[in-house]
Amino acid sequence: MDRSSTDRQEICAGLLQLPARIAPKYFYDVRGSALFEEITRLPEYYPTRTEAAVMQAHGADILQKVGAGGTVIEFGAGSCEKARGLCRLLRPQRFVAVDISAEFLHESVARLRGEFPGLEVLPLVADLGRVVELPAGLPRERRLLFYPGSSIGNFDPPQALELLTRFRGLMAADGALLIGIDLVKDIAVLEAAYDDAAGVTAAFNLNVLDHVNRLIGSDFEPAGWRHVAFYNVAASRIEMHLEALAATRVSWPGGERRFAAGERIHTENSYKYRLAEFFALLARAGFSRSDAWTDPRDWFAAVLARP
Ligand code: TRP
Repeated sequence: MDRSSTDRQEICAGLLQLPARIAPKYFYDVRGSALFEEITRLPEYYPTRTEAAVMQAHGADILQKVGAGGTVIEFGAGSCEKARGLCRLLRPQRFVAVDISAEFLHESVARLRGEFPGLEVLPLVADLGRVVELPAGLPRERRLLFYPGSSIGNFDPPQALELLTRFRGLMAADGALLIGIDLVKDIAVLEAAYDDAAGVTAAFNLNVLDHVNRLIGSDFEPAGWRHVAFYNVAASRIEMHLEALAATRVSWPGGERRFAAGERIHTENSYKYRLAEFFALLARAGFSRSDAWTDPRDWFAAVLARP
């Protein structure tokens, strides 16, 4: 089955669930990817700049532990902005940029090639929720998997364990995983990061409805919905939802769903970890040696995990 019909089935099934859900990967059409880049620059959205500061401050340690050269494979490369810093630090021979948004990825990869003339850059369009086939012939030795931005937080813990286990399977004993983890902190700080004053996160969340309309031919009217984000303490996660402002009916070829006023569609979770918990998860995935660096406020951690 092709990607588009699998997507269609998955989206329709999610819309019919109680409560309804749309998987976060559908955020990333071209506009969604651009809005996400804008989120990373918002004053309230601390993760991106905190992670960059941690990597900057501890670059020498990271270089000393993983060594220069080899192959860097980034998952969710997006604009390849983070790759720039890492490639400057590690001078790898090749860089594999994996992302779900084909169009966005190809533009970023072209820019990266321009900036690092000696670097072999391989784009790979893939959905991390499924099995990722790395390019045939990619050397197995000296692979550094790079998964920044706390993207692992967008998976439920069992799926996160599965993904980490698959990452382990993609490397030899000399490989490593460099992964960004957003840490548990003050609720007001967390909630502001996912509901900024300028409304960019709201626009990003609502944009998924336009993308879904194009993918399944539905008739969502984004103006009839609002962005809701809050921290669920018991589950240690930010939840993002879209809430119907009034009773509405949404239809698409082959189905329809009525929503009451105030009814929500769950679009994403962003789990926040304690370092000890995350180390335990890594150990279960087959990474027994983990080092972590954090910022002075302990808001975000860069973790280097090795088999
Ligand atoms: N994974 C990051 C996080 O959870 C980035 C991210 C994904 C994000 N989706 C988002 C940030 C939606 C804000 C809103 O923080």
